[in-house]
Amino acid sequence: MANLSSEITVGPAALSPLTQAPPHVPEALIFDFDYFNAPELAHEPHRNALILHDKAPPIFWSRRNGGHWIVTRAAPALAMLQRPDLFPSDPRYNPGARTPRTLPNLSDPPEHTEYRRILNKWFAPGAMAAMEPEIRALAIELIEELRPRGESEFLRDIAKQFPIVIFLRLVGAPLEDREMLCVWAERAVRAPERAERDAVGRDMLAYVRKLFDERRRNPGPDLLSRLLAATIDGRSLTQAELDGIGLLLFLGGLDTVASVLTFTMAYLATHPADYARLVADRGLIGRALEELLRVHGVGTIERGVKEEVTFEGVDFKPGERVSFMLGLYGMDIPEIDDPLTVDLDREISRHLIFGAGPHRCLGSHLARVEIRVFLEEWCARIPHFGIAPGKQVRTMGGIVWSPVDMPLVWPQ
Ligand code: HEM
Repeated sequence: MANLSSEITVGPAALSPLTQAPPHVPEALIFDFDYFNAPELAHEPHRNALILHDKAPPIFWSRRNGGHWIVTRAAPALAMLQRPDLFPSDPRYNPGARTPRTLPNLSDPPEHTEYRRILNKWFAPGAMAAMEPEIRALAIELIEELRPRGESEFLRDIAKQFPIVIFLRLVGAPLEDREMLCVWAERAVRAPERAERDAVGRDMLAYVRKLFDERRRNPGPDLLSRLLAATIDGRSLTQAELDGIGLLLFLGGLDTVASVLTFTMAYLATHPADYARLVADRGLIGRALEELLRVHGVGTIERGVKEEVTFEGVDFKPGERVSFMLGLYGMDIPEIDDPLTVDLDREISRHLIFGAGPHRCLGSHLARVEIRVFLEEWCARIPHFGIAPGKQVRTMGGIVWSPVDMPLVWPQ
């Protein structure tokens, strides 16, 4: 059990320039937080960024990164994410939406409901349980390759490889593409310049189209072949829809899993008593998983404002951008006693790391299997490990909070 609120440490970072707040935003609701480069995000962001709970209003306007709303508390975030009619994802209203348009995340009901109908069964718990043996074999392979070395840069050696290989297998793509996809996935979410993020999106789009073309010629039992055969109201999906879904299937599950897994491992590396419990009783890993996820949210997701509305006491105007910092919400769930404490025995551990409302993460069951199975196999093979002496885990903010690197050591 460990408390996240102890000791605040921050590092330097270059902030994006200030812009002017719109005239309708009252001075009391302006708080300039740079969700890419704030120093609070450069080290232990799940602890350091909690200053927003003390210093900023629950919903505030930041003049950084072009100017936008940021929601810091779980309760208003949950209420807003459940109202896509007011706070839509569709790029027509959502200025934060990336191009090329990914789907289903950048659509709203009822269009969105149709996409989810097609996709849900491929990511349902039963389908993911069927993938577990393959995921376990991959986890064992990666860990066994490293184990004799006694050290690893975990993010590079494991966290980034693991979800990419699983994804390539899911869509039946060649494993030798993994290095290239690793680089793209990172730039697509981490480049502070939107133009660069969009450029990577176009490279990835060309890659996805190539995969779809191959499946058209040689259909198989893979997900992309099934998407080519899927229909909405009797019609096939358009090329733009296939592009958008294919792109998100790549982007959605790479960096997110890598980051959550690395943050979770960083926690265990620095809390040996909790780690020893998991090693002694690997059955506890499945039960403690939600608690470990709760405090390691990583995404910052965005919505637009469709029309003028007052919600949660704040006046929103059409076309404004609203950012939800999901990494903050796990420490702010009203139903959880003492939410700053990580308690592996907690019976119910609710969180918003997979979002909320209609867009709740399609890949959440896959992500859970990946992280649980990896931890089970790591505990079985490496009973003691820690951060390399003299090193600390540097982190970055942005669309996905992430460690920059994580040097680990263990006795051989
Ligand atoms: C721990 C890992 C993961 C985290 C933290 C995560 C987080 C999220 C979040 C917060 C959303 C909501 C986006 C929004 O509301 O705008 C989302 C949606 C989505 N995620 Fe994940 N995700 C993870 C893993 C995965 C995996 C493994 C996949 C597999 C492909 C995936 C695919 C998707 C898709 C397709 C959506 C869009 C759902 C929709 O719009 O209906 N995610 N994810």
